Amino acid sequence: MDLETGILTRRSIRMYDSSKKVSPADIDDILNMAMHAPSAHNRQSWEFVVITDPEVQEKVMKIHPWCAFLKDAGAGIMVCGNIDQEYDSGFWICDAAAATMNILHGAKARGLGSCWCAIYPNAERTDDFKRLFKLPSHIEPFSIVVVGHAKMQPPQPGDRFKREKIHRNSW
Ligand SMILES: Cc1cc2nc3c(=O)[nH]c(=O)nc-3n(C[C@H](O)[C@H](O)[C@H](O)COP(=O)(O)O)c2cc1C
Repeated sequence: MDLETGILTRRSIRMYDSSKKVSPADIDDILNMAMHAPSAHNRQSWEFVVITDPEVQEKVMKIHPWCAFLKDAGAGIMVCGNIDQEYDSGFWICDAAAATMNILHGAKARGLGSCWCAIYPNAERTDDFKRLFKLPSHIEPFSIVVVGHAKMQPPQPGDRFKREKIHRNSW
């Protein structure tokens, strides 16, 4: 699949085939793609927590109301920011978002479904994830990307091109 087709046909997948597991090789390759994301001053201020243990997944689903499909998917990748490595205050958020996006497209490239589930900027959720994963104080949880074998055909992306969103040379 070429990059343009991948971008235009990616959709959030929320129904997964629990009988099929994501291979560790696929996870590694997807993480490799995540680590090729752009980052401010190339600081690569990201860290990743791979969540494949069903018991841990249960705990995540308890503290995150919008990723109830994690267990069926079989894999989650929590993207975190490393505050000690960011270029300047707040840039970890941009780096983590770019890495998250690469995971979504990396999964798509591997024929897998995925869904970005937000942690940042919800303060309560952030605290819950810090506690659950015993994150050190310089690590900020950003997102959980659920990855698995889709049980549904992704909905057609439709036409999202909106000319009124485009401003040329000035507002
Ligand atoms: C910052 C952010 C947070 C999101 N959080 C969730 C979430 O917690 N649970 C979920 O099912 N989808 C979540 N999504 C996915 C969006 O709902 C989805 O991208 C949007 O509806 C557009 O659909 P599409 O991804 O299929 O194009 C999130 C997306 C973004 C960018």
